[in-house]
Amino acid sequence: MKITVVGAGNVGATVANVLAIKKFASEIVLIDIKEGVSEGKAMDMMQSAHALGYDTTVRGVTNDYAATAGSDVVVVTSGLPRKPGMTREELVGVNAKIVKSVVGEALKHSPNAIFIIISNPMDAMTYLTLKATGLPRNRVIGMGGMLDSSRFRYYLSEALNKAGHPATPTDVDGMVIGGHNDKTMVPLVSIATLRGIPVTQLLSKQVLDDVVQKTKVGGATLTGLLGTSAWYAPGASAAALVEAIVLDAKKVIPCCVYLEGEYGEKELCVGVPIVLGKDGFEKVVDVKLEGEEKAKFDESVVAAREVNAQLGD
Ligand code: NAI
Repeated sequence: MKITVVGAGNVGATVANVLAIKKFASEIVLIDIKEGVSEGKAMDMMQSAHALGYDTTVRGVTNDYAATAGSDVVVVTSGLPRKPGMTREELVGVNAKIVKSVVGEALKHSPNAIFIIISNPMDAMTYLTLKATGLPRNRVIGMGGMLDSSRFRYYLSEALNKAGHPATPTDVDGMVIGGHNDKTMVPLVSIATLRGIPVTQLLSKQVLDDVVQKTKVGGATLTGLLGTSAWYAPGASAAALVEAIVLDAKKVIPCCVYLEGEYGEKELCVGVPIVLGKDGFEKVVDVKLEGEEKAKFDESVVAAREVNAQLGD
């Protein structure tokens, strides 16, 4: 299994590192435009192979797409991250140019690859990749819901602990769908559980509203603390998508995909639960949305279309 990670910055290097540690690939190619950065990070990772006990080859290259040839999965993290106070959508102009050019180059050398899009605004970048490459929709998957769901589980576990229900983020089941943005993502409180018990039975509406709000601005909170966007959870979340593909896990994960009538929508990419396996996404899983959650999902769709409209031709 060969995996290319485009962009050797905070998120890209973390994805490569997690993938190497988890031994999912025989070869990982890290590629960036900044001279020497991918080479240096790849060398640093290779020098941790002995301590961590992995035999994956991590190779760093500057802009040399021939080195990425024959990749099974291409993870796209190239582009600007937001700074404190910025929205993800403000990155659309500059990142669209970067994403369009890198997916074109990567596809030339890896015509059978599955593309995982991380660069923001991710929903629009996923849509752009699909349109620019003409790939079938199962092979273009945006990562946002996995990360937002991890943040949701984290904030739920914090609230549950405070309310006297001991919980770690892994004890909690919770999913976030809709757009990967601060305003319209949809943490699905109605189906969230702690070891099978609905969280609505354990936490008050006020506490759950607070969890939802913290989840929505989870990325902005970290950007405020770090001065740039986060990388550990985004990197781990992207690696989890690669894992589901590499292991043909057929796992249900909320991801950004192109809708063709599912959830009553088409002609856009937005976060919904999908079954992820060796061929990319196999199908969209239908969750019955009602009331506020349905209204929020509809807002996500409107917001995603607005950003897509800025992509031009
Ligand atoms: P970073 O600034 O640390 O790294 C970005 C890297 O992309 C840099 O090394 C840069 O040289 C490289 N790059 C720029 N243009 C390139 C090109 N044409 N070809 C190859 N490499 C190129 O940024 P970070 O923190 O790694 O974030 C990367 C992207 O991921 C940002 O757009 C950020 O907003 C997004 N992101 C998305 C998340 C999600 O859940 N979808 C979560 C976190 C970040």
